[in-house]
Amino acid sequence: MTETIESLLKEQQEFHPSADFVKQANMNDPHIYEKAEADIEGFWEGLAGNIDWFKKWDTVLDWQPPHAKWFSGGKLNASYNCLDRHVQKHGDKPALIWEGEMENSETYTYKELRDATARFAAGLKELGVKKGDVVTIYLPMVPEAVISMLACSRIGAPHSVVFAGFSSEALAQRVEDAHSRFVITCNGYFHKGNLIQQKERADKGLENAPAVEKVIVVDHAANIIPMKEERDIWWNDLIHNVDSECEPEHMDSEDTLFIMYTSGTTGRPKGVVHTTGGYMVGTNVTSNWIFDLKDDDIFWCTADVGWITGHSYLVYGPLSNGATIVMHEGAPDYPDKGRFWDIVEKYGVTIFYTAPTAIRTFMKWGDEIPAKYDLSSLRLLGSVGEPINPKAWLWYYETIGKSKCPIVDTWWQTETGMIMISPLPGITTMRPGTATRPFPGIKANILDDEGNEVPMGSGGYLALQNPWPSMIRTINGDEQRFIDTYWSKWGADTYLTGDGARKDEDGNFWILGRLDDVIKVSGHRLGTMEIESALVSHPSVAEAAVDGKVDEIKGEVICAYVILESSCDDQCSILEDELKQHVVDEIGPIARPKMIIFTEELPKTRSGKIMRRVLKAITNGTEIGDISTLQDPAVVEDLKRKVNEIG
Ligand code: WTA
Repeated sequence: MTETIESLLKEQQEFHPSADFVKQANMNDPHIYEKAEADIEGFWEGLAGNIDWFKKWDTVLDWQPPHAKWFSGGKLNASYNCLDRHVQKHGDKPALIWEGEMENSETYTYKELRDATARFAAGLKELGVKKGDVVTIYLPMVPEAVISMLACSRIGAPHSVVFAGFSSEALAQRVEDAHSRFVITCNGYFHKGNLIQQKERADKGLENAPAVEKVIVVDHAANIIPMKEERDIWWNDLIHNVDSECEPEHMDSEDTLFIMYTSGTTGRPKGVVHTTGGYMVGTNVTSNWIFDLKDDDIFWCTADVGWITGHSYLVYGPLSNGATIVMHEGAPDYPDKGRFWDIVEKYGVTIFYTAPTAIRTFMKWGDEIPAKYDLSSLRLLGSVGEPINPKAWLWYYETIGKSKCPIVDTWWQTETGMIMISPLPGITTMRPGTATRPFPGIKANILDDEGNEVPMGSGGYLALQNPWPSMIRTINGDEQRFIDTYWSKWGADTYLTGDGARKDEDGNFWILGRLDDVIKVSGHRLGTMEIESALVSHPSVAEAAVDGKVDEIKGEVICAYVILESSCDDQCSILEDELKQHVVDEIGPIARPKMIIFTEELPKTRSGKIMRRVLKAITNGTEIGDISTLQDPAVVEDLKRKVNEIG
């Protein structure tokens, strides 16, 4: 890790936005930062004007740390802002271009997307969904996922989208936690040509969630599935018999828009709660200024709707700006490794937003693949989810952007709702490896344990010291965890991001990665404790410790240390496969450990606590440091040897 940090910091190459880009940029006033800082509430209040309100707010911000209320008294509807208000202006403009795995596609104009949303929203009401009811959406990248989200927000039912690749168990856990009585899923979908039996997976999970009353099923893959009487209903049947109109509900600014589950430092994922007004203001302006969204842009964010990036920059941000979005179901290497560039060419994508892990993979596949396609429509590139190493940044800039597209390296989190640190492409000097500066109105800092700012260039905790409109409001059903996790390290007005960072003399922030028990595997956020509890739920496992090992392509891969109930002797490799599959069954394929190391001991203190720092050093072959407080220092050498053997 340290090596990567050093190479990041040494990277001094600078890239200025071209004069042409600056001239046309939505935001090109370099003084915007000072202007925002001089009157932060006024700054956000001005931006709230880009959203349509049924009733204007009474107060911009009510800040009782750590509780913020934004635009209190205001009434609005997110689906109205994403759809209806654009229909009059450009109802025939494509809102959503969907490209399926089998190279089939569908386009919805703004009018069509609004109509489909209104009709499905009427269907939800017909089924008994009321304002405030949480609807769980367990759909892959199909247009119905977007329609479902917008239909929920239309009637004031918070949605909880569960990534379609999560297991039955993970679905059940999230449905239960949210007390969700309604689930939307599909019969199946294709992944690299294979049929995934999504309904079967949902059914299995829902056995453990008896409170679920209705399951709406999209017929996506035409596979035959059993339907449970009384509970299950086909999407098409539901919308067939309902009114085609459904007026958008007038929601309070602080009404919950959605819950998004994410991983933290315990075995249980947490439901991050986002509310309506502030979230819409934040995602609207960041889409507009950071992605420089224009009327004729074709914006492709490759993130899945199951993650926050899919919420903020596939759906709410771009649609509230009236942009055209591309949504792709499938993988970058199916049917071949040119798939993404094929889509860019096919639709003339102008803005492309993806994760460093994908960029590094493309780089490995070779320049000859993108070279076969016409990428000249691209004018802006984005990166999100993990630090982008300068080598990958430069490759992205030169090979994909042909040295003419600014790159926005955007740092943010599920909890922040919107991008927090990023270049503004019409203003900022880019430097490969840094997300550059906090967005106007955002106050970020690098602090030490006591809450003091660290000296320039030193590493420390990345903290946020101002409230912002799209900030997390609470953790669903666990207010104490909300306070303990984010607002307790230094006091209730300073937000702990969980990331380490450094700031250079130009004010650029260099994100160094997580400092807690969260790991990022191919940009997916996972909790080490979550994987540990999955492992120990297997009868052969007595104890487990999970760690991230630095990986050139994926950022990190999962390395699990397992103490067995009894020795596996000649069955070890069979058991290893079984345990990997067990984690897949408990969480999903994204959590599959890359390596499992069987051991009799773990590096623990005398009080029996695993020393994560030592484990991290063993996993990554770095300097171990002081191990005098370990119960049994010999375990270190033993584990180091085992890790080395596996490679
Ligand atoms: C990491 C994803 C470096 C970081 C939007 C953060 C990044 C976590 C960047 C949140 C970036 C995200 N540079 N690291 N540009 N963007 N991260 O909740 O560790 O899935 O805390 O949200 O991703 O992950 P999450």
